[in-house]
Amino acid sequence: MRASDLFDVSGLVTVVTGGASGIGLAYAEAMADNGARVILFDLDQTRLAAETKRLGATGKQVDVTDRDALNRVFDETAREMGGFDVVFANAGIGGEPGFLTLDGKRNDERALEKLDTAYFERIFKLDVEALFWTIQAAAKHMKAGRGGRIIVTSSISATKTEAFVGAPYVASKAAAAQLVRQAALELAEYNILVNAIAPGPFVTNISGGRLKDEGVQAALSQYCPLKRLGFPDDIQGLALFLASPASKYMTGASLTVDGGVTLGYVG
Ligand SMILES: NC(=O)c1ccc[n+]([C@@H]2O[C@H](COP(=O)([O-])OP(=O)(O)OC[C@H]3O[C@@H](n4cnc5c(N)ncnc54)[C@H](O)[C@@H]3O)[C@@H](O)[C@H]2O)c1
Repeated sequence: MRASDLFDVSGLVTVVTGGASGIGLAYAEAMADNGARVILFDLDQTRLAAETKRLGATGKQVDVTDRDALNRVFDETAREMGGFDVVFANAGIGGEPGFLTLDGKRNDERALEKLDTAYFERIFKLDVEALFWTIQAAAKHMKAGRGGRIIVTSSISATKTEAFVGAPYVASKAAAAQLVRQAALELAEYNILVNAIAPGPFVTNISGGRLKDEGVQAALSQYCPLKRLGFPDDIQGLALFLASPASKYMTGASLTVDGGVTLGYVG
């Protein structure tokens, strides 16, 4: 089979939540460059306007933590585009610093017992609850149509501990990973395939753009066998793979893209 058929995403109606920046934008770009009909859902109107213009995509401003607004925008888009083929459930926020500073010292301000409820709730609202609502909306429309693909951005933090990221984030991504497996089990009968992409540290606007700082990059690169962080173009192949016929017998999987971080520390 030719690669152009195996990875064909042309014409696929593709929603990307949190699609105006970082990893979501990388997915959107890969899909748009290969002929998909892309719709970005994002909170940030300025980035949305710039990126939809650049990609020739459609943009919808929505806060995915507002369940009614999220359902409205899914319904409206389904009417306009005739349903969905691919939904990247990607919108998320970072975990904020962990119990160690980047130079390996204890960060007492971020000790487990000092983390407040509002921080925990903010992370779980977006990275778990809104993710669940996004999967629900996608499933509803895909069941009524021809099936489809739901691709969730989880994290390597779903399965590994983190010293530099707060505990609620790690717990939220573990919840996201298990939601993927549960949804995959239930939705397989409807030809809806649900998979996760689990990135390691990627240079995006997450956590106020902290990973764009060269000092932060150098500190974190030490823990990566490939000795560098990920950039958006490092994840685009996976997006195309999971959205295309190349992965048509895969569901409930989690694909790691982390430059080897989860292999362990090599000094
Ligand atoms: N960058 C990393 O190192 C990394 C690693 C593992 C997992 N992830 C995950 O990748 C996903 C994308 O993160 P990123 O690194 O690209 O971050 P990013 O900040 O560059 O992009 C996130 C996008 O989501 C949008 N967004 C945030 N809250 C929203 C809301 N309530 N409603 C709608 N849109 C909203 C933002 O406006 C932004 O455009 C997140 O789920 C994150 O947890 C990131």
